[in-house]
Amino acid sequence: MSDTEEGWCALTDASEVEEDDVVCVNLRGHAYAVFNIGGDYYVTDDCCTHQEASLSEGYVQDDTVECPRHQGVFHIPTGKAMGPPLTRPLRVHQARVDHGKVWVRVSE
Ligand code: FES
Repeated sequence: MSDTEEGWCALTDASEVEEDDVVCVNLRGHAYAVFNIGGDYYVTDDCCTHQEASLSEGYVQDDTVECPRHQGVFHIPTGKAMGPPLTRPLRVHQARVDHGKVWVRVSE
């Protein structure tokens, strides 16, 4: 399998994302946050929906991430904004793990 196939792109080696942690990966000019929650991988936009802040620099607790700027909290699997100051959900991308890599479905 190549690194790009039928709209899927390899973002990073799964082993690069420690359990209950997050890393930022830039692909085609877009910053993605790759989460490992208890061995399940999720890919969201890295940028907070409130203002400019990188969620990969935030605090992961259970299945939520707290933004480092104003402490807004998102539910990672659904992107739901859990309370103020957040009003808009986080974009969650289709993701899977295959051949040791985390893949994201990139919309054209
Ligand atoms: S920038 Fe993320 S909560 Fe304000």
